[in-house]
Amino acid sequence: MAKGRITKVAGPLVVADGMRDANMYDVVRVGEERLIGEIIEMHEDRASVQVYEETSGLGTGTEVVSTGAPLSVELGPGLITTIYDGIQRPLENIRAMIGNNLKRGIEVPSLDREKKWHFVPCVAAGDTVVPGDIVGTVQETDVVNHKIMVPPNFKGGTVKSIAEGDYTVEEIVAVLTTADGAEENVGLMQKWPVRVGRPYKNKINPDMPLITGQRVVDAMFPIAKGGVAAIPGPFGSGKTVTQHQLAKWAEAEIVVYIGCGERGNEMTDVLNEFPELVDPHTGKSLMERTVLIANTSDMPVAAREASVYTGITIAEYFRDMGYSVALMADSTSRWAEALREMSGRLEEMPGEEGYPAYLGSRIAQFYERAGRVICLGSDGREGALSAIGAVSPPGGDISEPVSQATLRIVKVYWGLDAALAYERHFPAINWLTSYSLYADQLGGWFNKNVAEDWMELRGRMMTILTEEASLNEIVQMVGMDALSDPDRLKMEAARSIREDFLHQDAFDDVDTYSSSKKMHQMMTMVLAYYDKALDALRKGANIKDLIDIPVRETIGRFKYVEEADTDENFAKIMQTLDAEIGAALAKEEEY
Ligand SMILES: Nc1ncnc2c1ncn2[C@@H]1O[C@H](COP(=O)(O)OP(=O)(O)OP(=O)(O)O)[C@@H](O)[C@H]1O
Ligand SMILES: [Mg+2]
Repeated sequence: MAKGRITKVAGPLVVADGMRDANMYDVVRVGEERLIGEIIEMHEDRASVQVYEETSGLGTGTEVVSTGAPLSVELGPGLITTIYDGIQRPLENIRAMIGNNLKRGIEVPSLDREKKWHFVPCVAAGDTVVPGDIVGTVQETDVVNHKIMVPPNFKGGTVKSIAEGDYTVEEIVAVLTTADGAEENVGLMQKWPVRVGRPYKNKINPDMPLITGQRVVDAMFPIAKGGVAAIPGPFGSGKTVTQHQLAKWAEAEIVVYIGCGERGNEMTDVLNEFPELVDPHTGKSLMERTVLIANTSDMPVAAREASVYTGITIAEYFRDMGYSVALMADSTSRWAEALREMSGRLEEMPGEEGYPAYLGSRIAQFYERAGRVICLGSDGREGALSAIGAVSPPGGDISEPVSQATLRIVKVYWGLDAALAYERHFPAINWLTSYSLYADQLGGWFNKNVAEDWMELRGRMMTILTEEASLNEIVQMVGMDALSDPDRLKMEAARSIREDFLHQDAFDDVDTYSSSKKMHQMMTMVLAYYDKALDALRKGANIKDLIDIPVRETIGRFKYVEEADTDENFAKIMQTLDAEIGAALAKEEEY
């Protein structure tokens, strides 16, 4: 085991000599307090170590000992509902987190060593298993059935023994005999190095949507199961609220939420809200499918760099079980800043705006771990890991390196807009600049599973919104009066799309989530108004009468109609719409 001595301390970075036998990315323990660090650069016998804890008090000559193992996470029952720091130490409570009073150097196992879990086998002695095969299950929470798998780095073989019973994560639940006669012990827990993606058989085409219940997302800029998306936005434009909405409502069986370098109170919101919220898919608390990683702005910067890897490794592990996992990282900019700080301390050649030259490749490596896959194992099961990162460009200007590197890799861009947030149009996702490269691919799914005119309605809404933008330019130059009546009506239709459809209040009990069916009803109503009014206009109805028909207000309130009542309401509104448009036309014909 390599043992060296500190020659230099620079904030979270320490340099130690005498480390020739250590390896890049080895975890080391520093000093008497045994602070946890990781080797991030090696030159002959000199190791540069990023330390995940406060380094105050360390000086030259202090001992650094390599553990000989890379930074790894523990994977097994007990992950769900737990709140971890960036290197997977459980943060017992909010106080420990916000107060940052986690003692330095403490060794807390990531998974409880005492707790017994009830294991039910699904293979029997004599069966043959390969890496990735499920040997049994543990009911981890009311909603999560934890699959116990043969670890990817095992050989696999014939099951020698396996038994139902109550086990701790360190006990052996099954013994395998490999082809060469050796034995492998399968326990409830496996370990995996965070910087290495967990293996799968192959990636498959992400052609199913990750339904989120957020209208601007599902209807306009959808994300695929296994897809990658970014939410860039200036200060206070709604990045965190959007991430929370996705964590709450996205149709995922497991949610991994990484609070990365943001204010402590944003994590407190998660901790306070999630246990109270009921998952619409299971009827249970949302925490029962959630793992939280918290590395808030007041916690050590190096651990922030590690936190996204810790999070995505846990997410991959649940994907391997065959689940749909959604991972949120808020904010990836703070992670990139941690990277920049470490790079600066290493005195590496700085790239754009001081970020290291490898910024882009690190961001790409992270998002590439997402995807829809055929998992390891002989049953061909499918899993998905969708990754959604918030980006906080200074001043909201996305020409900066982190935004640019992110946009090169993600397929969905939900661009938050300061002007929209200022007008309190939420979610402040700009419909003119945002995009989803999955939209066409997912269109088939929506047409087949929700309504066959879904993509047609979506296309029409997009067109009206784009045309509104050009009409707005004319209005700004010469005033509303310059517009023809059909163009005025188009402006009204666009307003209705924005206000009655795209605008969605995250804090309203009903509006916070829309089913795809409800979304389709809303799209139908808004466009039906436009079509019918335009027809009446052509037949001679007065534009003002058409703009003022009372049913439009009812359409605007439809978002607050409970899911159970939407069918009845929808039918009534469509009838009233016909009647009122008819009346507007009749009024004109009287003259
Ligand atoms: N979907 C929404 N529905 C209602 N209000 C919203 C919504 N999104 C954002 N808001 C409002 O905007 C405020 C700021 O949002 P949020 O905290 O998510 O911004 P942020 O981009 O994460 O900011 P920061 O850069 O400070 O992290 C919220 O407190 C809320 O009042
Ligand atoms: Mg935020």
